[in-house]
Amino acid sequence: MLPHASLKNELLLLENGLDVASFMALRRSVGLPEREKLQVKRALGASLCSVLALYGGEIAGMGRLVGDGAIIWYLQDVIVSPRFQGQGVGRAIVEKLLAHIRESSLPGSCVSIGLMATAGKEGFYERLGFHARPSDGQGSGMMLNLQL
Ligand SMILES: CC(C)(COP(=O)(O)OP(=O)(O)OC[C@H]1O[C@@H](n2cnc3c(N)ncnc32)[C@H](O)[C@@H]1OP(=O)(O)O)[C@@H](O)C(=O)NCCC(=O)NCCS
Repeated sequence: MLPHASLKNELLLLENGLDVASFMALRRSVGLPEREKLQVKRALGASLCSVLALYGGEIAGMGRLVGDGAIIWYLQDVIVSPRFQGQGVGRAIVEKLLAHIRESSLPGSCVSIGLMATAGKEGFYERLGFHARPSDGQGSGMMLNLQL
């Protein structure tokens, strides 16, 4: 689906166009903690796919996929700059990443797409077809953060 009419003619979604500086600027724009440049460079290099959204040359948003590219895919770092939020950019980014999964997974296979939603953003993902866990006999998503 295309983003809202006001943006659809100008929004550019660059597949694998996400660079370290844009990644860091977008995290900063929504108040997320800084990451080390080297760590970001390695993370982007190991991603299965990324999307950088540009509007009129301005950085509007991003998202990326990590995982094994066959059974399990994870959506990561879906961020829209505050001045572009609420105009369909986030939806366009996620749909582009979902299209990548459809195109590059084995035909006929069943794949799982996971994510960790930020508090209050669950509804955004529910509109895109995701369901929250725990549900239907599935346990909670879990995490372990390690400080090295
Ligand atoms: C979450 C985020 C990516 C959404 O991007 P966005 O461009 O503002 O969202 P969109 O305009 O594409 O919204 C798509 C749909 O989700 C809905 N939606 C958006 N945010 C929502 C929310 N927090 N709760 C419920 N629904 C939401 C919209 O109303 C829209 O519905 P519609 O298609 O039926 O009209 C953006 O708000 C953001 O970057 N937030 C800060 C960073 C963050 O928390 N990222 C999530 C990491 S898990």
